[in-house]
Amino acid sequence: MAENEFNQVQKKLYRLYSEIEHHNYRYHVLDDPEISDADFDQLMRELEELEKNYPDLQDLSSPTRRVGSKPLSAFTTVEHKIPMLGLDNAFSAEELFEFDRRICRLLQVEVIEYFCELKIDGLAVSLQYERGVLVKGSTRGDGYTGEDVTLNLRTIRQIPLKLPEPLTIEVRGEVFISSDDFEALNLTRELEALPLFANPRNAAAGSLRQLDPQLTARRPLKIFIYGLGENDLQLETQETILKYLDQKRFPVNTNRLRCNGIDEVWSFCSRLQKDRSLLPYAIDGVVIKVNVLEQQKELGYTARSPRWAIAYKYPPEEKETRVLDIQVNVGRTGAITPVAILDPIDLSGTKVQRASLHNEDLVRNKGIMIGDLVLVRKAGEIIPEVLKVIETKRSGREKPFTMPKNCPSCGSETVRLFGEAARRCLNPSCPAQLVEKIVHFASRAAMDIEGLGPAAAELLFQNRLVNDIADLYYLESEALSALPRMADKSAANLLSAIDKSKNNPLRRLLFGFGIRHVGEKASRLLAEQYGSLDFLSRATVEELQKIEEIGPKIAETVVLFFNKPETELLIDKFRKAGVNFTEPEKEITKSAPLGGKTFVFSGGLENYTREQATAMIEERGGKIVNSVSRKTDYLILGSEPGSKLSRALTLGIAIIDEKKLQNMLADI
Ligand code: IVH
Repeated sequence: MAENEFNQVQKKLYRLYSEIEHHNYRYHVLDDPEISDADFDQLMRELEELEKNYPDLQDLSSPTRRVGSKPLSAFTTVEHKIPMLGLDNAFSAEELFEFDRRICRLLQVEVIEYFCELKIDGLAVSLQYERGVLVKGSTRGDGYTGEDVTLNLRTIRQIPLKLPEPLTIEVRGEVFISSDDFEALNLTRELEALPLFANPRNAAAGSLRQLDPQLTARRPLKIFIYGLGENDLQLETQETILKYLDQKRFPVNTNRLRCNGIDEVWSFCSRLQKDRSLLPYAIDGVVIKVNVLEQQKELGYTARSPRWAIAYKYPPEEKETRVLDIQVNVGRTGAITPVAILDPIDLSGTKVQRASLHNEDLVRNKGIMIGDLVLVRKAGEIIPEVLKVIETKRSGREKPFTMPKNCPSCGSETVRLFGEAARRCLNPSCPAQLVEKIVHFASRAAMDIEGLGPAAAELLFQNRLVNDIADLYYLESEALSALPRMADKSAANLLSAIDKSKNNPLRRLLFGFGIRHVGEKASRLLAEQYGSLDFLSRATVEELQKIEEIGPKIAETVVLFFNKPETELLIDKFRKAGVNFTEPEKEITKSAPLGGKTFVFSGGLENYTREQATAMIEERGGKIVNSVSRKTDYLILGSEPGSKLSRALTLGIAIIDEKKLQNMLADI
């Protein structure tokens, strides 16, 4: 290429880069575009064309290269030269004023100048620029090392790939998803039968940690920059740092304020607490920083956090809204749950329009009627909860709620069993229960069948393709593809996800059965103890109870479940479909002398207490369990052995007496 031509193309490229970067900034950071989308697209096309003709001249920071093409196999780690520390929290005005008194005392001044910023609820990242070019982006990780998520951060259009000046600087900020974008994201996920995100923070974290940058690019991530990492700037206050970052075209939140003294800080916190629901993103508090950097330096850090800053945390947001209706939902165990249908409100960044009312007693105790104005908040920041009725605002036209006498799904009579809070539908083939059972079976903690959410389960059931959970393994691709709203590709994906689930360990299958009281943990314990479904299905209540942490309630329901004729049929169907019934051996420390060996005591010992013997066995890597199973290695025979001995004999397990045990322990 002639030198002249080279120079001209180069110049044109750089002009386009900065022009596009400028419009990108106007649009994504200032939210104030100067040109139309069509004109912007035209500029991008012009650049693409030019780059296609002169591929060698393309630069890494070109706006056409925001989204990388190849997925990573894993993230590499990045060390933070200046640690990314957390903040101490203040949960009340007293704690905040206490913080101020401490600072005043340490600095020996009467009034401190503070700088207040919003605490956006997302995740912290660091961005490193070298001579004006973004070279590395990382997550906070444990504060000292994070993950290299450069390719993903590049997809966030608010982040400049190139700065207006060739600065070498590290900046830090918070990546988040706005409330509206979060709603829209979850809506599309629901339509695609993907698991929903619980809150915007989880959604942002999940999106940033995708190995494939193309996926991250499709998520509506945003960022606010709130500070500096490594830098050689000579700035004097937090206020000037943010002004500086603003000038360098970083997205900096405008809700910020310099405050003279803690009283002004407190009024900023109170004002924003009132206005927080008007913000387009979720905040969980206000970050208060000592403004003058010289004073920050004097105060220094503890191991976990700076002494010069604190996060004032807001209590969970509460709002009033109206109960439009109370409907009932039939769960997989037949429990009928009243659900309040609410006039939609935004709470901590998510839209709330339903709240479980748990059972009829709760509705009565709280006195909730249809049409009531109620106070709602999110328990644990996730689950919406009706706190109380605003009785003073009643009009008299509110309608009381009564639990239906018949199941809203199958019409059978509902009953409330003695000692239970829930009213139940006892019909085992109730459609609503079956759909819920399928959804539970396919859920992430159970068989983890991707693409089988409520919508797909309903579709399969309505079209009579499944009548129980085992039928999933007999689905055929023709029948599936023939369903409305089921493309060939989704049918194929679903079938392969179902097929893959056949190899899951027993504990997932057990949890997927949805046996009452048997959660994830109990499923794991049972699977590990028995090793196979066939052994477990023959266990007695007494045996099961001997497993540590398995109480009589679980033991009884498990035995009841396996004794039901339907269960036998179900298990048979699973077996014929080739579903795995066994639990893989746990990773065990085979190097220890008794590594991985399992012992059961039966009856008392003469020379040791059980505790002493247990300690000696465990020291050598062995494990004591309460009941004999196929996986037991030794039964330690004491006085009055009882039923464990006969079971050990049946299973052909090695039986040792106290003397043998002593020898064994002495040998090693
Ligand atoms: S400053 C050493 N400013 O809060 C001071 N943090 O618990 C470090 N955060 O990991 C943080 N908004 O993810 C600071 N305006 C803000 C913030 C903010 C949100 C997050 C950040 C940090 C966590 C500290």
